[in-house]
Amino acid sequence: MHINEVAKQLNTTSRSIRFYEEKGLISPEKDEENNYRYFTEKDILRLSTILALREIGISVMDIKKILEDPKMSMEDYLNVQRSALFDKWIEIKDMIHAIDQMVEKTEDDHYSMDNILSLANHLKNLKNIRKNWQDKWNFDSWADDFDKNIKRIGHTFNVHQDYDEALAMIVDTVQLKQGETCLDIGIGTGNLGSKFLTEGIKVIGVDQSEKMLEMCKEKHPLIEVRKGNFLAIPLMDNHVDAVVSSYALHHLTDDEKLLALEEMRRVLKPNGQICIADLMFLNEDDREQVMGDFRKSGNTEAIVAIEDEYYADQLLLLNWLSEKGFEVKTHQFNDILGMIYAKKAKKDG
Ligand SMILES: C[S@@+](CC[C@H](N)C(=O)[O-])C[C@H]1O[C@@H](n2cnc3c(N)ncnc32)[C@H](O)[C@@H]1O
Repeated sequence: MHINEVAKQLNTTSRSIRFYEEKGLISPEKDEENNYRYFTEKDILRLSTILALREIGISVMDIKKILEDPKMSMEDYLNVQRSALFDKWIEIKDMIHAIDQMVEKTEDDHYSMDNILSLANHLKNLKNIRKNWQDKWNFDSWADDFDKNIKRIGHTFNVHQDYDEALAMIVDTVQLKQGETCLDIGIGTGNLGSKFLTEGIKVIGVDQSEKMLEMCKEKHPLIEVRKGNFLAIPLMDNHVDAVVSSYALHHLTDDEKLLALEEMRRVLKPNGQICIADLMFLNEDDREQVMGDFRKSGNTEAIVAIEDEYYADQLLLLNWLSEKGFEVKTHQFNDILGMIYAKKAKKDG
């Protein structure tokens, strides 16, 4: 097929096609005599892929990488792009929300610029929290051996003591009907989310680690995996009936945790449920007491491990959830592992 025909078929221009050729994304055969390009079915398919990826905002350079990387599938790249677009969308939503609030303030004849500035600062703070989270643990490198490394017993300090009980209790506590949707965030290799599949529930697993998601997909093909972060969950508003999470939230600081709860609330339908089992202390006094006990018994392994992460202050999370109208209840498995269950009000306030 010649360039004009291809352009017509794909609803683009010959100029754009030549541009992609110049950038090395396609290389149709050329007639040596008249220099006309000839496009095979394969070229047309490649060009359709390029046009589709451009339409969803992927840069020409990144498309080149996608097409040249034999290991990365189209699905993988779409997943990465969706996550990036959700980051932008959520940032824009925050900005629009701030504008609405600023306009509201200016409608008051006696408004002060300080009020506007404090809204701007709040927005800046949100942006920084979202931007600053980093995977300092390198979870991609944990993925292959993650399941093998879950040690149930026999350690000086064992974060996975009661791991199975905690996952089982989440499944018992969250009430879902067949056909409803459950989001497992920080899903890792899918140990929690997969337990809901047997109940006929649709499970979506979100994780920031592509390797963890690969492993999860390999073990549990029925789970829909999405790359994304607690701080910008790659789902539309009011999308799921439950959000569950195990052993993941303690990789976020307190400020980040509260923003993560806000994100969970956003994607949750009215009457939806949140259930989190994670490393946490009951409150700041409890943290002091437990850490003191570890110090007294000379358990430096415990101290170092706890200080490397952000074990939650359960009370902080409970207060936030109650303020937002959730009904909450808790369970404590041991000194460092707790569960929070929260049910969203029918009408979100
Ligand atoms: C210790 S693993 C737990 C995995 C699984 N939930 C379980 O209980 O076996 C923690 C997981 O949380 C994910 N994670 C940590 N911080 C995250 C964040 N900010 N957003 C999304 N995922 C995160 C990691 O990539 C990792 O897969």
